Amino acid sequence: MRIGHISDLHILDLDKPRPLQFLNKRLVGGLNLLLNRSSAHSAAVVKRAVTRLDALDVDHIVISGDLTNLALDSEFTAARHIVDSIPNAKQRVSIVPGNHDYYTPGSVRNRRFEGHFQPFLSSDLPQYQLDTKYPYCHLRGDVAIIGLNSGIASPWLFATGRVGDDELEATAQLLEAPEVQQRFKLVVIHHPLLPDKHHAIQFNRRLLNSDAVLDVVRRGDVDLVLHGHNHYFSVLKVPKLSTPGTTYICEAGSTSVTSGDNPKMAGKFNIYTIENGHLIEVESHLFESHEAGFVPWHSEVFRQQIREG
Ligand SMILES: [Fe+2]
Ligand SMILES: [Fe+2]
Repeated sequence: MRIGHISDLHILDLDKPRPLQFLNKRLVGGLNLLLNRSSAHSAAVVKRAVTRLDALDVDHIVISGDLTNLALDSEFTAARHIVDSIPNAKQRVSIVPGNHDYYTPGSVRNRRFEGHFQPFLSSDLPQYQLDTKYPYCHLRGDVAIIGLNSGIASPWLFATGRVGDDELEATAQLLEAPEVQQRFKLVVIHHPLLPDKHHAIQFNRRLLNSDAVLDVVRRGDVDLVLHGHNHYFSVLKVPKLSTPGTTYICEAGSTSVTSGDNPKMAGKFNIYTIENGHLIEVESHLFESHEAGFVPWHSEVFRQQIREG
């Protein structure tokens, strides 16, 4: 099983926002984007990544949030258009929202993200799913993919997240379901659970209940957590709590970034290879240029896991 991971697409569509949409938080966010982001993130680069993942024969694609910038309907429509271009997308794609997809109280109240991506949020184990649609579970071959929501409408200058207590409780129960227990367990969440030693998590960008989420993950024998938010490639390992073994926590980076001096911050996607219930390899591919597209950048092979298996 090969799983592609794209994230933090930040699809920008400032063509038709109504003036009222820029009142409140969007005024600051919109100006910031116009000044900084419009040249840094590109929908064309995301399309390139999706095409490349198809050529690299991935079985499934995970998108770990921040598909939009200002949670505008037009941005969601543009992002959905790209997702729909993935062959057999409704079976092959798992998506969770990020803080930018919950950018304003109105977008949260109107369930805008869930409205646009509803076909991707159905669960194979609906008895564990709350009315909010989370946690959902996609059973694909010998992998169980569990989607969590850490998006909240945070105040100005904050990009914090939180997984609701009810959702966390339901996730703990879902991780004990026989259909999940017998599979490789993969959790998708937008916010990181731990700081990377090279990349601290800023106070105003953190997951507010990261300790509680990490505890559920480690007790629930989760094999792999995929997240976004830092726009930074990272592979972390923590010991599981209930069984011997390792929980890998990985970030691909922002897929849509067109340029940058630090390769760790440049446009990226990851591919995870899972065999016999173990993660055996993480590959990272980097956006080099519009001519070259995405090229292999880094790979880690986990031979220890193979010997243990
Ligand atoms: Fe982001
Ligand atoms: Fe984010």
